[in-house]
Amino acid sequence: MADIRLFSDSGQLEMAAAEAIANLIRLAEGPCNVSLSGGSTPKPIFELLGSGNFARSIPWQKCHFFWGDERWVSHDHPDSNYRMAREMLLDKLSVSESQIHPVPTAGMGPEEAARQYERVIRKKVSGNKLPRFDLIMLGLGKDGHTASLFPGTRALDEDRRLVVASEVPGLQETRITFTPGLINAARAVMFIVTGEEKAGTLAEVLEGERRPRELPAQLVCPATGELTFWIDQAAGKFLHKSKRNEVK
Ligand code: 6PG
Repeated sequence: MADIRLFSDSGQLEMAAAEAIANLIRLAEGPCNVSLSGGSTPKPIFELLGSGNFARSIPWQKCHFFWGDERWVSHDHPDSNYRMAREMLLDKLSVSESQIHPVPTAGMGPEEAARQYERVIRKKVSGNKLPRFDLIMLGLGKDGHTASLFPGTRALDEDRRLVVASEVPGLQETRITFTPGLINAARAVMFIVTGEEKAGTLAEVLEGERRPRELPAQLVCPATGELTFWIDQAAGKFLHKSKRNEVK
């Protein structure tokens, strides 16, 4: 069952989410494996984590950073999730390159890159049957996608691989993405959803009929991990009161 945390505005949400991530890292025993989300929503949270007290007080040396999905572009491309996280967060921290594990997007094709990234994850992230991330951050697309699990794509049915290459429907664009199985093995999964344009989709995902092929975010259901949705009023406007605990 998802724990929905609703904030009056995105600024409050971002601070609370940064604090929750900081606490999760502090409490982690041993290495803390974190999968960062892409797109625009996490930028202010990364910026907070990379500044002031957060940057100084969090034991970043425990962390290993991964990406739940990546666009098939060079690491210095404006659309790169890796570049965004480096600029907003990682380059401001005193972490070593050995703690940062970007999706390879050069020198091979997307399928080989997905296999190689899966090998890195299997090597670096421990777990019982599957590698178990301490935290996987996710966003939500207006079409119901999360990570790069897009409606109607083969990646939705993948039940053996942990990382696959996937085409974005309608665009001639390739992505690399965690599969539902890897996401659902995590200790904690944090959806961060802000803005009115996501309200309809979020209500469908959380309260509508279950149709994961059209709404892949509905595939996220951690086996034993904690699932939380961090949303602002604008994104939560169509949710019924009973389903959300408003954080003042
Ligand atoms: C990506 C993301 C993707 C994102 C959603 C929401 O690579 O774009 O991983 O899943 O989280 O598309 O994107 P915004 O935060 O930009 O709305």
